[in-house]
Amino acid sequence: MVASEAAPFAKTGGLADVLGALPRALSQLGHSVDVVLPRYRGITAGKPIGRLLVPQGELGAAAAVFSHCDGGVQTLFVEHPAYFDRESLYGEGGQDYHDNAARFGFLSRAAVEWAAIYPEPYDVIHVHDWQAGLVPVFLRQGGAPVYRRVPVICTIHNLAYQGVFDPDWLPQLGLRSSLMSPDALEFWGRISLLKGGIVFSDLVTTVSPRYAMEIQTPEYGCGFEGLLQSRSRDLVGILNGIDYDQWDPARDPYLPQPFDASRLDGKTAAKRALLERAGWSADEAGLRRPLIGLVSRMVDQKGFNLLTELGDTLLTLGARFVVLGTGERRYEDFWRALAAKSPGCVFANIGFDEEMAHAIEGGADLFLMPSRFEPCGLNQMYSQRYGTVPVVRSVGGLSDTVQNFNRATGAGTGFAFDEYAASALLDTLRRALRTYEDRDAWRRVQRAGMQQDFSWDRSAREYVGLYERAGSGGAQGRAAHPST
Ligand code: ADP
Ligand code: GLC
Repeated sequence: MVASEAAPFAKTGGLADVLGALPRALSQLGHSVDVVLPRYRGITAGKPIGRLLVPQGELGAAAAVFSHCDGGVQTLFVEHPAYFDRESLYGEGGQDYHDNAARFGFLSRAAVEWAAIYPEPYDVIHVHDWQAGLVPVFLRQGGAPVYRRVPVICTIHNLAYQGVFDPDWLPQLGLRSSLMSPDALEFWGRISLLKGGIVFSDLVTTVSPRYAMEIQTPEYGCGFEGLLQSRSRDLVGILNGIDYDQWDPARDPYLPQPFDASRLDGKTAAKRALLERAGWSADEAGLRRPLIGLVSRMVDQKGFNLLTELGDTLLTLGARFVVLGTGERRYEDFWRALAAKSPGCVFANIGFDEEMAHAIEGGADLFLMPSRFEPCGLNQMYSQRYGTVPVVRSVGGLSDTVQNFNRATGAGTGFAFDEYAASALLDTLRRALRTYEDRDAWRRVQRAGMQQDFSWDRSAREYVGLYERAGSGGAQGRAAHPST
């Protein structure tokens, strides 16, 4: 596998959780997996095992490779300080690094060169997101002969990030200028590295069945809908799992007391700890008052403009909010201002804090995720596991993983709305808060969520089936491609 993030080494979002868990789950099924990652600043894991010459047009350079083995998975870190020894993964001060095409082109080419010298050829190559999108392009454009036919799978974790650059990068990346064509990398007059991944891979996956359908429509396709429709037979949605080694209330070191569906007092202890952390009294009344958690990148995708639209109305619901996240300045400022205005009602931590993410999943009663679009989403699954009832917009993976509560039957694992509108969110929050007052109904929703199977084992088996399908030539796509 090739990717730009993997927990616990480098993380900005769910991609890292997936790369931290899927390879291990595959290993537990008896497969052997190597993951190629950049050796970013601060990564100390791994021992040097070799050097590569990465021929990349005018930008060719050497890279050292470090290997780290854990949980049956080998992580291979590509070291090239000029590209990866930087403050952050993708950019600083709200700006992407100007040379991201070169940085991730380099990672992709290094992975291909590594595979070529590795004594045992890999059976399948699986690349993730635009940062690894050039891997199949390099392979099909004259990689080592042994890899001309190896199956390549490309997983789209988020179609909104497309790796779009000026076509002038092509020669600098060591790629032919003929790739600037609509049936190759060209995308609205520029080049898209994600398009390279989609066009040149045998099979394309995304991270939930519903998102796999959605991205074939203009509403969610981000300009790729035509291409994805043309590959619909090779496009598969496989729901992410969650890593129970990291996210299990029965053995979470960040919680004061373990709990599960049959022992919920630990959940009250977690709420008490969270209230105290926010500086609020954890007396009877404090414990009774509903507590809404939110852990998120603060970006449009996550529905933050619905929350800013509701503004002060959020303060009138009788609930409290504990919010953790970073992202766009205006959304960070919104939560800072709301917390300053009503410190008894809103606590906002504008930062990235793994421990607090666990404390919120453990201690909150409800979890808010009103996304505009959501390829899969992990927090709503963590929430259900932790008896924290999600309030979500029914879209993408949220729709596949949260069953809307039905008052008549008492069935459901959360509260969902369809229309992307502040009023729909508000109605749904009110509906959830009314149900919270009915202790029996609430317990049922909590328990139903806690009993869902979100294990990686299930998803990993689906990937294995797909690898087999790709290996047996069951894909339609690239053979017909004119540029290969
Ligand atoms: P996305 O990848 O789109 O951001 P996901 O729900 O798939 O959304 O995954 C987000 C992951 O990042 C989760 O593990 C979540 O807990 C974590 N996360 C997001 N923001 C923060 C933060 N500020 N502090 C700690 N963890 C965070
Ligand atoms: C992306 C998506 C998120 C998904 C994650 C892991 O970051 O935004 O919905 O859960 O990738 O696949």
